[in-house]
Amino acid sequence: MEIQVNLGSRAYPIYMERGILSRVGEYVNLRRKVLIVTDDGVPEAYAKTVLGQCPQGFLEVVAKGEGAKSFPVYERLCARLLREGFTRKDLVIALGGGVVGDLAGFAAATYMRGIDFVGIPTTTLSQIDSSVGGKMAINLEGVKNIIGAFHQPRAVFIDGDTLATLPPRHVSNGLAEALKMGLILDPVILDRFEEADYLPHIDEIIRRAVEAKARIVEIDETEQNERKSLNFGHTIGHGIESAANLSGLYHGECVALGMLYFITDPALRARTLEIMKKLNLPTQCDVDKDAVFAAMGHDKKGDGSRVTVVKVDRAGQYRFEPMTLGALRALL
Ligand SMILES: NC(=O)c1ccc[n+]([C@@H]2O[C@H](COP(=O)([O-])OP(=O)(O)OC[C@H]3O[C@@H](n4cnc5c(N)ncnc54)[C@H](O)[C@@H]3O)[C@@H](O)[C@H]2O)c1
Ligand SMILES: [Zn+2]
Repeated sequence: MEIQVNLGSRAYPIYMERGILSRVGEYVNLRRKVLIVTDDGVPEAYAKTVLGQCPQGFLEVVAKGEGAKSFPVYERLCARLLREGFTRKDLVIALGGGVVGDLAGFAAATYMRGIDFVGIPTTTLSQIDSSVGGKMAINLEGVKNIIGAFHQPRAVFIDGDTLATLPPRHVSNGLAEALKMGLILDPVILDRFEEADYLPHIDEIIRRAVEAKARIVEIDETEQNERKSLNFGHTIGHGIESAANLSGLYHGECVALGMLYFITDPALRARTLEIMKKLNLPTQCDVDKDAVFAAMGHDKKGDGSRVTVVKVDRAGQYRFEPMTLGALRALL
C-alpha cells in the first residue's frame, strides 16, 4: 500500500505494509553511506534488520526520551556524519518514534545544507503524525521544537508489525492523534474506533489518518492556513501538557483532553468521550486551571488579545474561530 505526498519536486511515497522493514532496500537506494539513528528504547532487532540491508551502514543509538532533541545530541550526529565522510549523495534514516524522527531529520536537513532522509516510524504517534509533513526540530532551553526546518523525506516506511512491542499506553497516545484526524477530517476513523474491537482495524485507522494528513500537507506545506487545523485540541492540550508535566501525561493524552473543549455538538462530544475511554485515554485531569492558562503562554497578555482556535461542529469538519483570551480562560 502506497500513499503519495504530492509536493512537486519534493513529492515522496509513504509505504505501509507489515514486514516492510526487511524490504526497505527494494524501494530506496541503500547502496551508499547510510546512518541509521535510533534510540535505546527501540528494540535492537529493528535496527539490525535495516542495517543488514546496508553495505555501508552506520548506527547511532541515542538515549531515549525528549532529552535527545538537543544541541549536544544533534552535534554528535552531525560530527558522526562528518567523520564517516558523508556527502550530499548519502542518506540518514530515522528508526523510532517522533523524538528520533525530529532529531535525525533535523540533522539531515542541515548537514551540508540538506541530505537525503528516510523515516521509519515505529510508534503510533510517529506513524500517524510526526513522520508525515517534513517538520524537523530540536528543543532549546525547555522550549519545544524551537530550532528546526522543513525537510521532506525521500520516503517513509510504516511497518505495523513494529507496534507489537510498543507499550499499550504509547499505542493509545498516538491513536489520540488519529481520533483528532477523524474529528477534523475523516469521520470513518470514528466509526472504526467504535467497532466492538478496534485493534483489528488499526492498519486502516493509521492509513486514513496518514492520508488525511498528507492531503493537508499538500495544500499547505508550511502551515499558513489549512495545516493549522491539525492544531485542533493543541491550544489547551499544550497548556495541560506543560502544567501536567509533574503528573506525567503524554502528548496525545493532553491533546485528547484539549479537544473536548472545542467539540460544539454535545452528541459528538459524548461519542468522543466513549472512544477516549475505550482507548484508556484520560477523560479528566486535575491540573490547576491557572497553571494551564499560564502555560499556554497567554498569562501576561491583556484580556483583549485574540487567539485562533479550531472547532468541530460535525464529525470530519473543522472551522477556525478567533477567541479572546478571556473567553478561553472562561472555557477552561
Ligand atoms: N515533526 C512533527 O510533525 C511532530 C508531530 C508530533 C509530534 N512530534 C514529536 O514527536 C515526539 C514524540 O514522539 P513519540 O510519541 O513517538 O515518542 P518517542 O519517540 O519518545 O517514543 C516513545 C518511546 O517508545 C519507544 N519505542 C519506539 N518505538 C518502539 C517500538 N516499536 N517498540 C517499543 N518501544 C518503542 C522509544 O524508545 C521511546 O521510549 C515529540 O518530541 C514531539 O515533539 C513531532
Ligand atoms: Zn500533536
